[in-house]
Amino acid sequence: MFNIAVAQSGGPTAAINASLCGVFEAAQKYSEISTVYGALNGIEGILYDRLTDLSQIITTEHDKNLLMTTPSTVLGSCRYKLKDFGEDDSEYKKITETLNKHDIKAFFYIGGNDSMDTVMKLDDYFRENNIDIKVIGIPKTIDNDLPETDHTPGFGSAAKYVATSLQEIIRDSRVYSIPSITIVEIMGREAGWLTASSCVLRANGEPAPHLIYLPECEFSEKKLYHDIEKAQKQYKAVIIAVSEGIDCVRSKSGITDAFGHTYLSGVGKYLENIVRDHFGCKVRSIELNVMQRCGSHIASLTDLEEARRIGGAAVDEAVSRNNTGMMMTFARISNNPYRVGIVPVDVHKSANKARFFPKEWINEEGNNVTIDALNYFLPLIQGEPAIEFQNGIPVHFRLDQ
Ligand code: F6P
Repeated sequence: MFNIAVAQSGGPTAAINASLCGVFEAAQKYSEISTVYGALNGIEGILYDRLTDLSQIITTEHDKNLLMTTPSTVLGSCRYKLKDFGEDDSEYKKITETLNKHDIKAFFYIGGNDSMDTVMKLDDYFRENNIDIKVIGIPKTIDNDLPETDHTPGFGSAAKYVATSLQEIIRDSRVYSIPSITIVEIMGREAGWLTASSCVLRANGEPAPHLIYLPECEFSEKKLYHDIEKAQKQYKAVIIAVSEGIDCVRSKSGITDAFGHTYLSGVGKYLENIVRDHFGCKVRSIELNVMQRCGSHIASLTDLEEARRIGGAAVDEAVSRNNTGMMMTFARISNNPYRVGIVPVDVHKSANKARFFPKEWINEEGNNVTIDALNYFLPLIQGEPAIEFQNGIPVHFRLDQ
């Protein structure tokens, strides 16, 4: 008999708790696994021995159903970068101590590019020191920018939220007879996947957003004015989707996280001001901000089910196949019908790396995306989970209840 531990790390999504549920459920199938510990605030929970027995928290089927539809991380998260153990192994010793103290033989880390850095470093350390503890990464990020996987859990739900919100913004923007320009700022630090996914509205005959700007393309204010002028000839209310990561002068906070990423926010506001000055018409900007990460009321059922499945597959990988140092990935088998398989890949291939939106899916003008992009995105946003409501408000699973 042995125990396992799971933790959640990085920015929230609507599907991270679904992966936690998948880990917990899969572990229950193995008679050799005694306790599934949840570490609070990611790797910090292991470092400081803040563990909780998940069977004390997830006690009923109802708990699991609620977990599936509760966004963010019930165990809390972190943006914590481990030092290289060649330089300083004190954190690694502390981590090993906690894991040994609780007889934990496998550790599952649900996270994005930076969290895979933790998986990689821990696994390298354990191998080098002949410590028999398995480490497996379970992907997640609304940015969809993890290499090696077709897509990441959390992305489909964020894309569905973005498209739904944009559709509502479009309805709102068309009420007046006067010309207007609406700029919607969408997350995605380095890669434009989430902004590009706003093209899914086209599947329902909606031409907006009329312009889509991604970090993968060169951006210039002169070109933006030219594109808007052209769009205004056709549309009274021009709708623009812009990634927070586009390369332009904007209000950068100058503040960085532990992994050196700059907090990006405010490009929409910046563009609103210059576009208003230039065109002199009604201009509004909307920053979807953190709402797009936790919009579980409009989550994609496909996304939540896949997140649960990949969490379970991670446990099988470590326990049945005795594997370690892997990140679980999705491999798309077919688009119609949509089918994906789950494949483990060496975590070294995705840690600290970003996967960018394909150049060949961007139009020649660099201001929109192609039908191939639409075909890629559509299956990921399908299906709606049954949401429980109380007093007219969706019920969330909360540890502090
Ligand atoms: O997790 C990715 C992400 O959501 C990016 O899209 C965004 O730029 C960043 O996190 C925001 O970071 P934080 O959660 O630290 O505010």
